Amino acid sequence: PLRLAVLVSGSGSNLQALIDAIESGQLPNTRIVLVVSNRAAAFGLQRALEHKIPSIYLPWAKRREESEAKLQVLLDLFEVDLIVLAGFMKIFTPAFITRYPQRIINLHPALLPDDSVGSTYTTSDGTVIPAFRGAHVVPDALKAGVKVTGSTVHYVIPEVDAGPVICREEVRIEEGDTEETLHERIKAVEHRLIVQAVQAHQKQNERG
Ligand code: GAR
Repeated sequence: PLRLAVLVSGSGSNLQALIDAIESGQLPNTRIVLVVSNRAAAFGLQRALEHKIPSIYLPWAKRREESEAKLQVLLDLFEVDLIVLAGFMKIFTPAFITRYPQRIINLHPALLPDDSVGSTYTTSDGTVIPAFRGAHVVPDALKAGVKVTGSTVHYVIPEVDAGPVICREEVRIEEGDTEETLHERIKAVEHRLIVQAVQAHQKQNERG
C-alpha cells in the first residue's frame, strides 16, 4: 500500500477526509501510517488517536533543520512514501524538500497556476487574478475583491506555494462572504480535492 504521513497544524478536517476515504474504500491500497503536528493542541492529533493512527507532536524549532531531522527519522521509521501537508503551517528548508522529490504534496486554499511559479491565474471565465501565496490567502482574496478563488493541491518544490499542480477547483466568492464563510466553502471542496490528489499520485506511480 501507499504509506502516507499527514502533517497538520490545526483542526485536521482534511486529515479526516482522507481517513474517511480510506475507511469507506474510496482510497484503496492507501494507509495513513503517521500523523505529525507542530502544535500540541491541534485537533488533528485527536482525530488520529480516534482512528488508532500513530501520531506525534513535533514542535518546530527556530532552526528548522533540527525539526526536519527529527521528522526525517520518523518518516524513515514508518516507511512513508508520500508526505501530505494538510493545513501544515510551516515552511520546509529547500534541503529537506529536495530530499523528497515528487513525494510531498501541499493543500493550498487558493488557485495556483499551471506555470508553477507564475504570478497570475486565469479563472474558467477568463478573468486574470493574482496567484495568492502565503499563509493568509483566504482574507487576501477577499480583500483583493476577486469573484473566484478556490483550492489547489500541488507537489512541493523549494519555492513556496509553487510546484506541479495535481488538481484544483474554483470556489465562487459570494456577496457578504466573510473569511469564515468563504474558508468553510473552500474546505468543503478541499475534502474532495485532497482525496483526488492522493488518487492521482497513486495512479501516476503505478504507471511508474
Ligand atoms: C485548509 O484550508 C488548507 O488549505 C490550509 O489550511 C486549512 C487546514 O484545514 N492550508 C494552508 O493555509 C497552508 N498554508 P484543516 O486543518 O481543517 O484540514
